[in-house]
Amino acid sequence: MKVLNLGSLNIDKTYTVDHFAEAGETIQATTYAEFCGGKGLNQSIALAKAGAEVFHAGCVGQDGAALIETLESAGVKTELIRTNHEPSGHAVIQVNHSGQNKIMIFGGANTHIPPGYIDQVLEHFHRGDMLLLQNEISNVSYAIEQAKEKGLTVVFNPSPISSSITHYNLSKTDYFILNEVEGRKLAGTCTEDAREILLELQKKYPNSVFVLTLGDKGSYYADETTVFYQEIFPSDVIDTTGAGDTFTGYFLAGIARGRSAREAMRYASLASSLSVSRPGASPSIPDEEEVCRILAQKEKELQMVH
Ligand code: RIB
Repeated sequence: MKVLNLGSLNIDKTYTVDHFAEAGETIQATTYAEFCGGKGLNQSIALAKAGAEVFHAGCVGQDGAALIETLESAGVKTELIRTNHEPSGHAVIQVNHSGQNKIMIFGGANTHIPPGYIDQVLEHFHRGDMLLLQNEISNVSYAIEQAKEKGLTVVFNPSPISSSITHYNLSKTDYFILNEVEGRKLAGTCTEDAREILLELQKKYPNSVFVLTLGDKGSYYADETTVFYQEIFPSDVIDTTGAGDTFTGYFLAGIARGRSAREAMRYASLASSLSVSRPGASPSIPDEEEVCRILAQKEKELQMVH
């Protein structure tokens, strides 16, 4: 199964701060670094590192060469990426001492993706391949509809969630991968209870599979017949940026490579816990060898306890 990720590519301008700036306040950052990011790019890198055959499609500006090179060096196929006349997308990210972040994105080239380009990209994919989308590019809904018509498995990570999502035809989505905030908004509920969020989502989209991530509270998988919980693997938190993207990439690579949902969730959970223990979004994504080694070690420790 080939994976097509039609997704954003951002230059992440990352600042370490003592506390997040409030309205009207000017603060001094303690460190500054630039990383390659964007939910799309991060998820493609996680997919490739987890062993999937992944093609990234999307747009960068004339200043986007490093974004393409970073994808290539992680093993992502980049020949479908187009360079347009907009500046590349970028993100301004504040990271505080507990590793939490506040992110502002400027879409740039990511928001100038025309339907004609999506048609051309989809010509390279067929029934049984997978299309992954996040909500940082233009024409998401068009891509979902065209891909579904061709028989692709459609995966949507509605992040960042926006009111425009209400106009998308999401009943054609096979998998939703989303966090609590996104889950609540999509389901149209205020409940704090993750199981209730899942139930509401299932009522609205009865044919879809859901992966609901809850940060340091773990995650849930739910399909028509099964619901199960996956705990986190605790780690020292340095920077949570890109943790959800790492989870998404690892989970989908597992599914694309024929792992069971339980196995894929376990791999995804460990990979994202490793990513939060390191700075940056894409540079913090672990490779498969490390994830497998640590997972085997953890399973051995568990067997010794029982
Ligand atoms: O999910 C993290 C990503 O969100 C960052 O890399 C940033 O670019 C924004 O898209």
